[in-house]
Amino acid sequence: MRQPFVAGNWKMNGSLDSVNTLLDGIKAGIGEVKEAEVAVCAPFVFIPKAQQKLNGSPVAWGGQDLSVHDAGAYTGETAGSMLKDFGCRYVIIGHSERRTYHHESDDLVAAKFQAALKAGLIPIFCIGETLEQREGGITEEVVGRQLDAVLNLDDGATLGRGVIAYEPVWAIGTGKTASPEQAQDVHAFIRNRVAGKNGAVAEKIRILYGGSMKPGNAAELMAKPDIDGGLIGGAALQAEDFLGICTAAN
Ligand code: PGA
Repeated sequence: MRQPFVAGNWKMNGSLDSVNTLLDGIKAGIGEVKEAEVAVCAPFVFIPKAQQKLNGSPVAWGGQDLSVHDAGAYTGETAGSMLKDFGCRYVIIGHSERRTYHHESDDLVAAKFQAALKAGLIPIFCIGETLEQREGGITEEVVGRQLDAVLNLDDGATLGRGVIAYEPVWAIGTGKTASPEQAQDVHAFIRNRVAGKNGAVAEKIRILYGGSMKPGNAAELMAKPDIDGGLIGGAALQAEDFLGICTAAN
């Protein structure tokens, strides 16, 4: 059995005030969450605050990106070891917003995946197709290529140390969720592709769905056999909504 996992991706949102309120709200309600492992991925500057508030609670925290480099003259970048210093357990890798706005390639994403592991962090590895690609019938081609960048680093063992998040780009922040069947189809495709390389990894790796997941649609998505949880953007900014999704895994 794979333990469900729900991770919040706050993106570039929040103030010290709102983050305090959000973290207090999550802490207050986390006792209702029986099944899911829970984490929040905060903007870098709020990570010490997440650590201070969440330390000793069942909620883990993480970053939304990391540098591929260990240290040095890379202005504006943040190393995995720095995230680790502040108690991060997870880091999001290859989010579609990084791929789109920062032109992150599959190879760079794979290098970041390895940098995360090297720093002792668990990568949450995002893959997903755009609307144009879906309508062009190349969803599997695109998702397969993105997946292979990490899957083919070795016999699948490296991939197996992370978490996958399938996030159809057309569903992110649009309010347009993939139907449970649409999502399950791609999740099954991903798991089968991993199984083609490494059956044990395919069996145990968690594949999260991301894209307009809300308390109202989380349960039916997570009920699908290959959907092991969610990566939550907009709905992770309110404790009540986020906890509603986490409890949907109960
Ligand atoms: P959303 O974002 O839940 O707001 O659609 C998900 C994500 O981008 O991780």
